[in-house]
Amino acid sequence: MSDSVATITGEDGKSAELPLLRGTHGPVVADVRGLRKETGLFTYDPGFASTASCKSSITYIDGAEGILLYRGYPIEQLAEHSSYLEVCYLLMYGELPTPAQMTSFEDIITNHTMVHENIRSFLNGFRYDAHPMAMMVGTVGAMSSFYHDSTDINNPEHREISAQRLIAKMPTLAAYCYNHHTGRPFLYPDNSLGYVANFTRMMFGVPAEEYKPDPTVVAALELIMLLHADHEQNASTSTVRLTGSSGANPFASIAAGIASLWGPAHGGANESVINMLDAILYSGETIEQTIARAKDKNDPFRLMGFGHRVYKNFDPRAKLIQKMCHDLLQQLGGDQPLFELAMELEKATLADEYFVERKLYPNVDFYSGIILRALDIPMNMFTVMFAMSRTVGWISHWMEMHEDPEFRIGRPQQVYTGAARRDYPTNT
Ligand code: SDX
Repeated sequence: MSDSVATITGEDGKSAELPLLRGTHGPVVADVRGLRKETGLFTYDPGFASTASCKSSITYIDGAEGILLYRGYPIEQLAEHSSYLEVCYLLMYGELPTPAQMTSFEDIITNHTMVHENIRSFLNGFRYDAHPMAMMVGTVGAMSSFYHDSTDINNPEHREISAQRLIAKMPTLAAYCYNHHTGRPFLYPDNSLGYVANFTRMMFGVPAEEYKPDPTVVAALELIMLLHADHEQNASTSTVRLTGSSGANPFASIAAGIASLWGPAHGGANESVINMLDAILYSGETIEQTIARAKDKNDPFRLMGFGHRVYKNFDPRAKLIQKMCHDLLQQLGGDQPLFELAMELEKATLADEYFVERKLYPNVDFYSGIILRALDIPMNMFTVMFAMSRTVGWISHWMEMHEDPEFRIGRPQQVYTGAARRDYPTNT
């Protein structure tokens, strides 16, 4: 992939020839691996806005054009023709499955949906009002204590079975966290149902009566999960890679990713968007007042669901979710006023210089919460839904990292700005 070189010269006149790397798509990259050795210099890039941490063949985003590809396939085409489990196979193995491969993959996932009975009692140790994301961080991390037969990270078969177990069990754990929170009994998975339908039954079903998954709800959730499956080196995926780079087992690495996703600047934004829209709706604040607050540098308020480190155009997922939102609310009813407010807010920002200049558009979280609420998913479960969907992306990157010949433990440098060396006062 190398091409011509860029040259950097340090203070002492030492120069480094930096090879330029070209990926399949995307900008030319200066390879700075030799920089410190050859010039004594290193780079400074808080937030890594100009830094590639790895090579990856899983997902590609063109932020300027609003393009998202999973293993080369446009997200719009996958949304129209694929399923969440087929996308899981694609992200994990790099190619779309043949019908036989898909059947075998579905069987494997279906036959790993149950969790050890002790996980159920582990969950009952949480307070009734524990946030489901706190329970997911703890429970997924604890899963490594149940699978001693597959935590040899240097064994490709162990890596694969761990990935399959995580994808299979996340819906069960997510539903159990919800059941614990609501005091409802845990339902075992029903393996006669599809992956998403099984989740809706464990979430909303009760032992006292037969539960029939609603096809409209299942289809909407299937699409939401597919759209959230992976997204390059976002904060939580980078956390999974950095955690896994020390040799940490896959369950601990995914638990770290769940913790990172919880932040309101990342996966927690879908919950914050609904809180923001509700506050606007019920406070009587006008759209103009809300936008003024978002622009006011003295006000910490930001327009949740807007802006993105990479997209400087519409997030293609937001466009697909907005359309689904419209169709679903027509079918199910629900938060029409909230949806209309969201569309008014979007329209107002598109005409506002502050947002246009900074290329701040709605991101995946802006409309997803409205759909989840229309599906009767409670707000404190929104980020759990995101974690459940993103598990396949996280574990695919974790596997790719372990197969990367250039893999090494991640250990960033820093610029030290503390006190100069000084002696401990001994004359006192
Ligand atoms: C996700 O990385 C991924 O791929 C993430 C994700 C995934 O699938 O994994 O796509 C999922 O996390 C989506 C993002 C969800 N978060 C939110 O919606 C929270 C609100 N958005 C912002 O906090 C912010 O836009 C970020 C965190 C998303 C991006 O932050 P950046 O890239 O660090 O941008 P920045 O903070 O440097 O902002 C640049 C400018 C600043 O103004 P100036 O200093 O230039 O005057 O834009 C302003 C910011 O103040 N700005 C906003 C804003 N977002 C950025 N102003 C008001 N409201 C906002 N939402």
